[in-house]
Amino acid sequence: MSRTRPDPVRAVVIGGGAIGASVVAALLRGVVPDVVPVAVVDPRPVGDLGVPQLRLEAALEQADVVVECAGQAVVVQRAVDILERGIDLLITSVGALADPELAAAVRAAGPGRFLLTAGAIGGLDILSSAAAQGPLTRVEVTTTKLPATLVQPWMDDPAAERLRATTAAVEVFRGNAREATRLFPRSLNVAATVGWVVGDFDLVDVRLVADPAAELTCHRVVAEGMAGRYAFEIENLPSPQNPRTSGVVPHAVLRSLAALTGRPSGVI
Ligand SMILES: NC(=O)c1ccc[n+]([C@@H]2O[C@H](COP(=O)([O-])OP(=O)(O)OC[C@H]3O[C@@H](n4cnc5c(N)ncnc54)[C@H](O)[C@@H]3O)[C@@H](O)[C@H]2O)c1
Repeated sequence: MSRTRPDPVRAVVIGGGAIGASVVAALLRGVVPDVVPVAVVDPRPVGDLGVPQLRLEAALEQADVVVECAGQAVVVQRAVDILERGIDLLITSVGALADPELAAAVRAAGPGRFLLTAGAIGGLDILSSAAAQGPLTRVEVTTTKLPATLVQPWMDDPAAERLRATTAAVEVFRGNAREATRLFPRSLNVAATVGWVVGDFDLVDVRLVADPAAELTCHRVVAEGMAGRYAFEIENLPSPQNPRTSGVVPHAVLRSLAALTGRPSGVI
């Protein structure tokens, strides 16, 4: 975004669910200086969020920045177009980037800037720096969530019921981050974000555990390479609006927006 752009920065939020509605509400409260929400885009009626609900085309005419809080399909279908219109795009549905063709297309598209929010995870700065120093040899992400949040449309009824009814922790997936985000598109954005940051989705070994005792959603990340060894664990309270999503995610989006649109100071 150019500094010659007139203030304030006009934000369009795609997806008026748990994340998007919170982001719009916070922007209306002035949480991010000089950023005003101008529209929300959603195929279902979202109620009165304090901004007009518009179709995407009409909303894009007013946008300086688009915040995607809707799902992978929006990134797949609209990211390149949005960037080519010179609109900045901040995404939450990072799993879409597991498709190498899409990842290459968004990297090449512009003049809008393409950015990912850190979302439910942290520690990405050191992983990125370590990967820049030399290739990482081992990256593992173990995510533990409530079983009901992991039920997927591709599961047959008995499998879905077994998952919902489990009384003990059970591993539901083990594989790389590319496969993980294909099978659990709304639940493993964290693994995708780690994959993007280390520059290799296939390097990231993902383990997904369904645990009925998991009041907090847990992400344990372990990485190793010529730069050093890293291990950290993040435990987030699920969003009351959508238990698949951590409550901290809208705040991560707002933080990303502030970094994107403001005058950086402090840790970035
Ligand atoms: N990066 C992260 O750490 C992280 C964490 C949680 C969720 N997410 C991503 O954020 C997305 C939204 O999460 P949420 O908890 O707000 O979900 P939600 O289900 O509460 O809300 C999603 C909203 O998007 C709308 N939507 C669906 N398809 C759309 C489309 N094509 N155009 C416009 N709107 C559309 C839905 O109608 C719904 O209102 C998730 O799908 C996930 O991909 C990322």
